[in-house]
Amino acid sequence: MSHPPRRILVTGALGQIGSELVHALRARYGQDRVVASDIRYAPPEAAAGWEPFAYVDCTNAVQIQEAVRRWNVGTIFHLASLLSAVAEEKPHVAWNLNMGGLYGILEIARENGLAVFFPSSIGAFGRGTPAEHTPQDTIQRPTTMYGVTKVAGELLCDYYHQRFGVDTRGVRYPGLISHTAPPGGGTTDYAVDIFYAAIRHGKYTCFLQADTRLDMMYMPDALDAAIDLMAADATRLVHRNAFNVTGMNFTPDELTAEIRKHLPQFTIEYQIDPVRQGIADSWPDSLDDSAARQEWDWSPKYDLPAMVEEMLRELDAKLSVSDP
Ligand code: SER
Repeated sequence: MSHPPRRILVTGALGQIGSELVHALRARYGQDRVVASDIRYAPPEAAAGWEPFAYVDCTNAVQIQEAVRRWNVGTIFHLASLLSAVAEEKPHVAWNLNMGGLYGILEIARENGLAVFFPSSIGAFGRGTPAEHTPQDTIQRPTTMYGVTKVAGELLCDYYHQRFGVDTRGVRYPGLISHTAPPGGGTTDYAVDIFYAAIRHGKYTCFLQADTRLDMMYMPDALDAAIDLMAADATRLVHRNAFNVTGMNFTPDELTAEIRKHLPQFTIEYQIDPVRQGIADSWPDSLDDSAARQEWDWSPKYDLPAMVEEMLRELDAKLSVSDP
């Protein structure tokens, strides 16, 4: 007797990555195969489009276990997490959610034979890390609570793989740029906010310095990274948690110059937030993602000009409907 394929559960499905990853997974594997879950409910007008949907608080192991049983889950994309700037404001909440949530997910994965995708971040680097061409295997001494939870998360995922054979895999995402859902309080959020401000007001006040260089990625590449890594041939994987991936790197000044090619009147001014500037200064300028390229054929499609062109086009269309 053949069994139906087990489903995919996405936690944090209403967040910046999740709200697009659920649709990308459903496009690849079928609507019914992918269960969206979050601690929030989808807005009523959108709820029908989110089915199947499970209300899950990731810090509550019973709720995760129930969702896994009820939906016959085989893989979890565990996205629920606080981002860097918010985690600095509420470090104890960040520890509970980022670590407590992951631990519960890994335990349930061990008991039920699940695969787990865990997104780490450029935030897993810090003092002493080479800032340019940051190697796959290097010093990781982050100075933020977000970074501490990401390094610990990488290690815990590797531990569950080595000790219990759980199929854990992850990437270190850079700043993610998208036009669908907003990021939830990160240091790289300026690279999303700037597009809304450019279209709505023609000017933007940036909280990072003009010359702060960071890795970034356009969301379609971030979705491919997660889906392709989880589908990759396990026998080729030397690393697991977590692979450096990047799509581009730029400074606020360089992003402004690219936006001005489309909106010549656009202006930027700077009002530095010392907390987020300090976080950004502790992160790399450019990751070396050759391990991901070698082990699972990672290859991003969007560079800075392609990303800016599409962001402006998509947001212009979206905002002309929402702010007529
Ligand atoms: N975008 C994230 C942040 O700024 C980095 O992983 O917190």
